[in-house]
Amino acid sequence: MLSKELEQALNDQINYELGAMYAYMAMAAWLEQANLTGCAKWMGKQAFEEYEHAMKIYEHVFDRGGNVTYQAIAKPNNTFKDVRDVFENGLKLEQGNTANINKLYEAALGAKDYPAQIMLQWFIDEQVEEEKSFADILAQLDMIQDNPAGLLMFDGRLGSREGS
Ligand SMILES: [Fe+2]
Ligand SMILES: [Fe+2]
Repeated sequence: MLSKELEQALNDQINYELGAMYAYMAMAAWLEQANLTGCAKWMGKQAFEEYEHAMKIYEHVFDRGGNVTYQAIAKPNNTFKDVRDVFENGLKLEQGNTANINKLYEAALGAKDYPAQIMLQWFIDEQVEEEKSFADILAQLDMIQDNPAGLLMFDGRLGSREGS
């Protein structure tokens, strides 16, 4: 059985994941209007991944006899300077989420909640991947700078992201 404290913390994490989903949806819309349709598609998949993360925690909470109650999702940032600004915001979001996941893991350790620890280990791995994918994209954007041909090629490559 989940402790009440951990149940609350997992509910808060569901809110953060859904907040990330909404933030990525806003980024996808900004990229779409900037005619970077490949980047927009990549970001749409990123948003859906965050939904899947929320659902992973949702299932864990119910499997453990807990309950999920949804909270308000904050208004996302809708305005960006340029494509680099979009991905920089994404990296910051992921870094913030890594800190959240780490705190949750510490709480699960403190509560000697082994099933929650195992579930959260998946998220710890996932955050390494998430931060890396944004950092890699930012490094590529640094190489492209203001080269339109480079940006078009980059956009095409991001548009071919696999997955749902
Ligand atoms: Fe996530
Ligand atoms: Fe993420």
